[in-house]
Amino acid sequence: MESLQKGTILDITVEDLNTSCEGLARVDGMVLFVPGLLPGEKASVRITEVKKGYARGECLKISEKAHFRETPACPHYDLCGGCDFMHVKYDKAMELKAHIVAENLKRLGHVSWDEKKIKLIPAENKVHYRNKFLLPVRADKEGRFVCGAFRRGSREVIPIPHCLTQDLAARDVMNYIAEKAPQYGIKPFNEKTREGYLKGIGYRMEKRNKKMMLIFVITSEDTAPLQPLLDDLDFKFGHIDSIYANINPDPDHTGLSRKNIHISGKEFLDMYLGKAMYKVGPSTFFQVNSRQAELLFQHVLSLLPFERWGAVWDLYAGVGALSFFLASEFKRLYAVEIDPDSVEMAEKNKNRNFADNVTVIRGDLESLDVTQLEKPEVVVTDPPRTGLSEKLVTQLNKLRPTKIVLISCDSATLARDLDRLSEQYALKSMALADMFPMTRHIETVTLLQRREGEDDETRPLDQEIPGLS
Ligand SMILES: C[S@@+](CC[C@H](N)C(=O)[O-])C[C@H]1O[C@@H](n2cnc3c(N)ncnc32)[C@H](O)[C@@H]1O
Repeated sequence: MESLQKGTILDITVEDLNTSCEGLARVDGMVLFVPGLLPGEKASVRITEVKKGYARGECLKISEKAHFRETPACPHYDLCGGCDFMHVKYDKAMELKAHIVAENLKRLGHVSWDEKKIKLIPAENKVHYRNKFLLPVRADKEGRFVCGAFRRGSREVIPIPHCLTQDLAARDVMNYIAEKAPQYGIKPFNEKTREGYLKGIGYRMEKRNKKMMLIFVITSEDTAPLQPLLDDLDFKFGHIDSIYANINPDPDHTGLSRKNIHISGKEFLDMYLGKAMYKVGPSTFFQVNSRQAELLFQHVLSLLPFERWGAVWDLYAGVGALSFFLASEFKRLYAVEIDPDSVEMAEKNKNRNFADNVTVIRGDLESLDVTQLEKPEVVVTDPPRTGLSEKLVTQLNKLRPTKIVLISCDSATLARDLDRLSEQYALKSMALADMFPMTRHIETVTLLQRREGEDDETRPLDQEIPGLS
């Protein structure tokens, strides 16, 4: 396409959103992505990048705004890469998320599911919902200490003291550390020289009692440089229940490593979902939005009104969040998880919840022979973004449980898995639980029912259990 060259300025009308929440327009048969624009909007844009088959642009001026556009409430929104949907009214953002899911299912899974039929489970708390947050710490160009979030599309860290997703009580602590750490001489990690000490600060927070776990990501096992700051925090805040150092010397790895040193307070944080209680460590997986996790798990339960007597498999179980939430509702459950720390925690959680009917199994679902387990009536899966392993799908197609409930945080891999299960299973319902309001992230719950024959369910499938919600 001749007219689309870097630097070209043109007027466009946005047709759709892509999965990264960028406006999508078509210009002379070529697809153009423009961050920040919404479907229906007309704008003047400058082309910034031309690739084979698509181009990217930046918005210069919006001449016709969408009626569902709104002014972002967060002062960091323009720069921070954390949120994507703050310029869209909430109900419309939910609709757009459902649209993205339905498009992915159609395009990648050959599954046609009307987006209007996706049940929406909106967020009860749209701000300050995160029970966990990890803020990177870096030296800026002048070597000064910066703590916050990565700038959109960049490795530069920018301060985000007014972040609207962090828990408020935890945010006070994060802001205090960001201010005091350089005063105590704590050296930030420098990505250029690959030197420095503090790489990140994080928290886990139980919102019911406001107790928190603090995590310092550092590059050596020496925790002495933190001590003056820790004494200060001890004096200033009463709700820090547990403090850890996470040792991450790898200059190319930004997140949490697997090596933790317990510095003070409780070894684990007590967290709650519904009536279940969980012990959680610094780097084990736990749902980031507790209230939405409760609503999601209640929805899973509502999909299984008649399956209380068979075995339920909770695959990719983490610390057993779903298993212990459901334990009193089913006869037997099997929680399968690969991570040894999570498995250890799941065993503790089993005792803590008196859940003798839950069997915790350490296993890799890429290779585990699940046919050795008690044959399931229901299988619930909650894999990482990569989706279900091929071996597991093959085994599920052979075992043919009555129902499979797929919890997924990536509708592209969900689409692939639905495709692989479609011969044996019919899609009966799909829900979208908004675990991450204001971001593009989407959590779906899909109910599959075994096809054909006398085993088929004819009862209503989306029926709520009285008294549960
Ligand atoms: C999205 S989390 C879900 C955890 C849990 N269902 C919950 O709600 O807290 C995915 C979990 O799958 C585990 N996992 C990843 N790959 C796995 C594998 N190949 N076999 C078993 N578990 C795996 C991870 O360690 C993680 O705990």
